[in-house]
Amino acid sequence: MIQVPFFKPSLSNKAIDNVTDAIRSGWLTTGKYTQTFEDTFSAYKKGIYSIGLTSCTAALHLAMIALELPKGSEVIVPTLTFPSTATMALHSGLKVVFADIDPDTLTLSPDEVKRKITPHTKVIIAVHIAGNMCNMQSLQEIAEKHNLFLIEDCAHALESTYQGRDSGSIGDVGAFSFYATKNLTTAEGGMLTTKNPQIAHKVKLLRSHGIDKEIWKRRQSTAYQQYDVLYPGFKYNMFDIQAAIGIAEMENISLNHEKRKILYQNYENAFAQDPRFELVKIQPNSTHAYHLFILKLNLDAIPCTRDMLMFKLKERGIETSVHFFPVPLYSYYKQTFGYTEQDFMISYQTYLRLISLPLYPDLSLEAQEYVIQTLKELAG
Ligand SMILES: Cc1ncc(COP(=O)(O)O)c(C=O)c1O
Repeated sequence: MIQVPFFKPSLSNKAIDNVTDAIRSGWLTTGKYTQTFEDTFSAYKKGIYSIGLTSCTAALHLAMIALELPKGSEVIVPTLTFPSTATMALHSGLKVVFADIDPDTLTLSPDEVKRKITPHTKVIIAVHIAGNMCNMQSLQEIAEKHNLFLIEDCAHALESTYQGRDSGSIGDVGAFSFYATKNLTTAEGGMLTTKNPQIAHKVKLLRSHGIDKEIWKRRQSTAYQQYDVLYPGFKYNMFDIQAAIGIAEMENISLNHEKRKILYQNYENAFAQDPRFELVKIQPNSTHAYHLFILKLNLDAIPCTRDMLMFKLKERGIETSVHFFPVPLYSYYKQTFGYTEQDFMISYQTYLRLISLPLYPDLSLEAQEYVIQTLKELAG
């Protein structure tokens, strides 16, 4: 029996060499590798500011702090996302207002956003789930009309574009993840992107205690330089060992994206005409990052539940996952805000049908075929 994990990292030898060099350099924390990674990322995103952080979660947090919103401002967050998209709004003293998704693309529904806007709304967070871009034209129009900030959660969307524009450069701020499973990984890590120099400046201070002079730059001068603290900052700075991996992995973005695309399209071709399954629609005028392949099951045409299907696949050596459980239906949100399934029926009913299949550059065509055939067999 073939074993097919849900995810397998594929770091290059260059990444391993770069890490060794970074360790040998004698400077382990934020320094020249971080700077080089940021510069390379900025160039990849056609010149926007890029600030290296410990995670995408940190990027979302600092984005909302840097926007200097009045306490209690409302942030519209899609229901179908990773918990930290919402949690970071709470930690920034803001009120989370969940808006439902468009079940065809699984992205934030602009109509639902319109329904949720109040005089207190200040931010919309657009999550490009699986690498599928949100309807940014509509979201931008809404944001402009109501004078709202637009944050792009690009955790899944490194390579995505919309109407020719890069993810993370369309809204006011972009937040990228380099977590172990992401299209580009630094094991853990994140990047905040923005076109706005004031936001970039503030985030750079906030990531490291609000200190005005970066430590590695201070060390380059001979005289001791007393630093000042300009804001009550955080400890969210990316460090050089992470960045050393990132610099090497940047070189593999196109090749890995191409491999992911082939695998994604193989899945689409395998399931498109089969009435037991429904494909997620790709946003028009966009490029997908092919981070996750999420399939919708037509449960009426399948003899068991999604969870049972996942269990049976696991018995056959195939690991699958679910992206995502609707955030307002987690215990914390239900107990604190009294939400029920009825409040977010589209997300909840869609969630019950979702299954994510293995997708990564080193997934062999043979292993993928095994996944396809086994799923079809178990779906009755
Ligand atoms: C949509 C989304 N946003 C944010 C995050 C948080 O990323 P990180 O683990 O880098 O903090 C994740 C993590 O998987 C995610 O899937």
